[in-house]
Amino acid sequence: MPVLGICYGHQLMARTLGGEVADTGQREYGATVLHVSQPSLLLRDLPATDTVWMSHGDAVTRAPEGFRVTASTDQIPIAGMEDPDRALFAVQFHPEVSHTPNGQAVMKRFLVDGCGLLPDWTPTNIIDDAVERIRATVGDAKVYCALSGGVDSSVAALLVHRAVGDQLTCVFVDTGLLRTGEPEQVEETFARHLHVPFVHVKAGDDFFASLAGVTDPETKRRIIGAGFVRAFEGVAGPHTAPRFLVQGTLYPDVIESGSKTGATIKTHHNVGGLPEQIDFDGIVEPLRDLFKDEVRKVGEELGMPEEIVQRQPFPGPGLAVRIVGEVTLERAEKVRAADAIVRDEIRRAGLERETWQAFCVLLGDVQTVGVMGDGRTYENPVVVRVVTSEDAMTADWARLPYEVLDRIAQRIVREVPGVNRVAYDITSKPPGTIEWE
Ligand code: XMP
Repeated sequence: MPVLGICYGHQLMARTLGGEVADTGQREYGATVLHVSQPSLLLRDLPATDTVWMSHGDAVTRAPEGFRVTASTDQIPIAGMEDPDRALFAVQFHPEVSHTPNGQAVMKRFLVDGCGLLPDWTPTNIIDDAVERIRATVGDAKVYCALSGGVDSSVAALLVHRAVGDQLTCVFVDTGLLRTGEPEQVEETFARHLHVPFVHVKAGDDFFASLAGVTDPETKRRIIGAGFVRAFEGVAGPHTAPRFLVQGTLYPDVIESGSKTGATIKTHHNVGGLPEQIDFDGIVEPLRDLFKDEVRKVGEELGMPEEIVQRQPFPGPGLAVRIVGEVTLERAEKVRAADAIVRDEIRRAGLERETWQAFCVLLGDVQTVGVMGDGRTYENPVVVRVVTSEDAMTADWARLPYEVLDRIAQRIVREVPGVNRVAYDITSKPPGTIEWE
């Protein structure tokens, strides 16, 4: 079995196989210069001196029989060793962290040359494989996709379209709670650019009517979920022939829902409980094995435009959970206008890819006093929320440059009627969540 020992694993391998480990008093922590000696199978792609990340006190002082030493530092003589005939490799540094810039090249050598694996997890192969599996699952049944316009449902829809063509119908429900320009952009992309059968349900009036008087966040979510079901039923009609539903479930969702003990923090819904409430013969989940970055690569390969592939996440219930208090059309217009400004300024500052989400929350039931021109104002505040995150499980508030914050605040108060104050949310997750509701 090929083995790569890292840090303690390097020492354990040395000691177990007859080498020596000692406390040399030479503690190394942080960025360190590595001297690489070739030939080395594992470190073949590294330059003669390279920067690596170290974190250790003890050190290997003698390599086991059969091993050649492949790296050292100014402090320790054996920072890397290998016995390629037995497929045993070890390094004292940490190739798995981003502080070791060439670490991925080391991991790759281990997997490809050390383990003999083929690097075939490519977008093209993922697509071919998904297409084959979708065809085998659905046969000639009809397939429906509740398209949100986000990257996941969009890529899932395109994969299914590639597999079964016009057997697919995409249903896009405009709840009236989407971001500026979004419905038009999704229709343009899918119907006109990608030629996917596309039904645009304009249900804003229904959603606002059913949300009247509701302030509780979970109730809002349930009402919106039910509204999705109604809109979807309207398109899919009665269940007379076999039909399947596409879901954009990702690998992290699969992992998360594996935990039966986790408390429900928020009822996340993407398609509003469709599987339980509408009768389908099966579900198609073409992204089940993929992480978000892989979904984006597959999307690019399928010809999806950059605006969708790189789009920041947006909750299924939309702006409803970004209006604290009752959801009305007037409030939705305010938060939508403020949201467009935040995203515009983040884009102009070149910070779109560095931030996970950038948006606004309207405190609908709060009014604050302000002064504009020579008059008193008494209007709503808006909270700007910009976070960095890897996977939304944890998040940190983005340290935006003051100038960017300043431009956002000035523009919102100047351009959005009914808003006279802007605050910036500096709560991380945990203890906060990314959204306010
Ligand atoms: P929280 O607020 O729980 O959000 O920290 C984590 C991520 O999930 C998004 N989010 C939702 N997505 N339906 C969704 O599809 C929902 O009801 C929902 N609520 C939150 C949120 O935008 C963030 O990216």
